Amino acid sequence: MAPLTRSRAGAGFVPTPLMAEYYAQRASAGLIIAEASQISQQGQGYQDTPGIYSQEQTDGWRLVTDAVHAVGGHIFLQLWHVGRVSHSSLQPDGGQPVGPSAIQADALTFVDGAFVTASQPRALALDEISGIVQAYRQATRNALEAGFDGVEIHAANGYLIDQFLRDGSNHRNDRYGGSIENRSRFLREVMAAVIEEAGVGRVGVRLSPVSPANGVSNADNWALFESVFDQLEQLAPVYVHVIEGATMSSRDHDPEFDFQRLRARFSGTYIANNGYTSELAHALTAKDPNALVAFGRSFIANPDLVRRLKLNAPLQRLDKQTLYGGGAAGYTDYPALAMQPGD
Ligand SMILES: Cc1cc2nc3c(=O)[nH]c(=O)nc-3n(C[C@H](O)[C@H](O)[C@H](O)COP(=O)(O)O)c2cc1C
Repeated sequence: MAPLTRSRAGAGFVPTPLMAEYYAQRASAGLIIAEASQISQQGQGYQDTPGIYSQEQTDGWRLVTDAVHAVGGHIFLQLWHVGRVSHSSLQPDGGQPVGPSAIQADALTFVDGAFVTASQPRALALDEISGIVQAYRQATRNALEAGFDGVEIHAANGYLIDQFLRDGSNHRNDRYGGSIENRSRFLREVMAAVIEEAGVGRVGVRLSPVSPANGVSNADNWALFESVFDQLEQLAPVYVHVIEGATMSSRDHDPEFDFQRLRARFSGTYIANNGYTSELAHALTAKDPNALVAFGRSFIANPDLVRRLKLNAPLQRLDKQTLYGGGAAGYTDYPALAMQPGD
């Protein structure tokens, strides 16, 4: 199950019993990657997304992991810093969001029930960066204390790590900007810190090499991600999770970009995502035994997606009005198939 922001955390951005019910309903997934969760208040970009930086949040997540484990599931938490894709009203003391450079994102955030333009960011000072790496480290400790089986570093979809990677959003002229080596330094440092806390077997990473999500751009995505994959091969996370194409949109966004060739540069597990059907998933795993497929939208509307795919049963339609915010409606009330004799 792909990570899916649903903006239903309680006061203090604490996960709720309703969230535990939602994830437990979906625990037949081989692995749930729980929704992106901010590693600090500065890292938040949308209303009511859960955090993983306070003790209350850690205790709230314990309800979720216990509920999933009680029914035999496995669950990682996605660690998130949105960088410039935020709004001042969500920032500590109403300040500016931060990014590699003071370049405003062509992106929308979600505040008070409405989508609004991301605020003008300020560039991170060089001496602030190690504090953010430290926040990832602490968030990892918290996630393990909360009972997660591991964590996924969110380096996709135009958020902070992706902003550092791309030359459209990173105009720094210190050791975090300029060359590919420098632009990927922040990713390497975050990965090293998180792996040191959790061990390689409990750390995955998510990338979206050609996605223009949240307004990122880059001159040469092949050169960048070829290098990122070579660096990941050295760091050896338990998996690399790739959004192929434009997130939630065309898989052929950049038809020249060869995801299979990229995948071949990493010898570990590859999780593929974006617009996968059962047929596409079987075609991939038949030729790549070390590949998994993550399903996003279909898991929202079908808590028993695995069983439906196995039975070739019809899938329920997604209600787009209830994706973000609200309560049980469109969250925990999608029915599972009735059990049949012999199940
Ligand atoms: C409601 C919603 C929330 C999402 N939240 C996240 C998120 O928190 N982290 C992330 O990496 N991707 C997020 N995504 C992207 C999905 O994980 C996935 O990449 C996308 O839906 C494409 O997969 P699919 O075609 O199987 O739905 C979100 C997508 C949707 C529809």
